[in-house]
Amino acid sequence: MSEHRIESLRRAVAASPEDAMLRLMLAEELASAGQHPAALDEYDWLLHHDADLTESLVHIGELAAAEGRLPLLRACLEHARQAGIVEGVGKLQRLVDELLTARGAIKVTADGRGGERPAGPAARAETLTFDQVGGMTEVKQLIHRMIILPLSRPELYAKYGRRTGGGVLLYGPPGCGKTMMARATAGECGLPFVNIRIEDVMDPYLGVSEQNLHTAFESARAQAPCVLFLDELDALAFSRHKHHGSDARRLVDVLLQELDAIGSDNDGVLVLAATNAPWDVDEAMLRPGRFDRVVFVPPPDEPARAEILRVLLAAAPTDGVDPARLAEPTALFSGADLRAVTERAIDAVIDEALRTGSEPPLRMAQLEQAVAQIRPSTVDWLVRAKAYVEFANQSERYSDVAQYLATKEVRRRLSR
Ligand SMILES: Nc1ncnc2c1ncn2[C@@H]1O[C@H](COP(=O)(O)OP(=O)(O)OP(=O)(O)O)[C@@H](O)[C@H]1O
Ligand SMILES: [Mg+2]
Repeated sequence: MSEHRIESLRRAVAASPEDAMLRLMLAEELASAGQHPAALDEYDWLLHHDADLTESLVHIGELAAAEGRLPLLRACLEHARQAGIVEGVGKLQRLVDELLTARGAIKVTADGRGGERPAGPAARAETLTFDQVGGMTEVKQLIHRMIILPLSRPELYAKYGRRTGGGVLLYGPPGCGKTMMARATAGECGLPFVNIRIEDVMDPYLGVSEQNLHTAFESARAQAPCVLFLDELDALAFSRHKHHGSDARRLVDVLLQELDAIGSDNDGVLVLAATNAPWDVDEAMLRPGRFDRVVFVPPPDEPARAEILRVLLAAAPTDGVDPARLAEPTALFSGADLRAVTERAIDAVIDEALRTGSEPPLRMAQLEQAVAQIRPSTVDWLVRAKAYVEFANQSERYSDVAQYLATKEVRRRLSR
């Protein structure tokens, strides 16, 4: 049947080779018949004749990647950038990176941007994108609106006179995906990821930390547009530094100056930060234009846990494993705890393989056993947060933490 349609479409295209509509029909017919190389030839023609393929760019990119057609894949990426389809850009960039890596054209970069940049000291192979981060729907939406949209559709914000810029501060218990989210934000936009870590900045010698911090911001500006990530912001901008008149207060001042400079020249440095201890972050950091959005990243809820487990187990051979059923007994487990669960279970299978000489798949029993052995690492943080919310008169600022603490799942687990 489809052979028949393909034949007649081919004849029609031969008769009117400039008809984009016919080409598109032929391409789609070929693709659904599994004739990918021929379909890609048609898509190639269409892309070079500026046909509107916005809706299908990711799909075409996937086919092109599978067939190893790098130029076509790049053309998809370029069109996605121009059309401002933000989610697609990250995915397509990753496909390009993977293809290049597979070919040994190692283009690993210090920032996860991929592309043909020289390798840096903190070189990383993969570009992380939102689809690899389980759950966190609300955080993804907020970052999309605060960071990605102003970048991809600046004219829209200008039209309504909406101020852009200002950083997003993510806070919450350890291991729940803050750092991952920051990296994925860069991946989504296809931008370099510049990570400023506390240990790269701090120096016991007078004035050196300030200089290091300044250099890090300079490097970010030089790579703009980019995503600048300040991890452990509480350590960089510890509130009590200010009051004690210590040397470290100057570090807080330098950080404020740098943030204001970025905010004022609107130079395409998108700022994200993370902390486990938002109550220790200097108040001045939270003013408009600096980190004016402070976002709680809670431990993943039940559907998010299922999704994270699915992501974590995607590569392992399994038999009868149901991530949704494991999500139930893992209340308050962080993403990192869930990773520990899967790793422990996989270790058990490997042991079994070594013992028996067979290579059995991973089963529920091993995962359930691992769950029973691991205590959620978010509990200590939540207990501490509870004290801040209830006793330190901070309930206003941390109202979403308060709300989370009041949920049944948390109350049940914390009262144990
Ligand atoms: N939403 C998620 N989806 C998939 N994996 C996750 C998720 N959250 C956490 N993980 C896993 O847990 C690891 C730790 O996450 P990440 O480093 O982003 O946490 P964090 O919030 O930055 O923690 P910390 O406060 O300790 O810095 C990740 O490398 C990943 O393997
Ligand atoms: Mg982190």
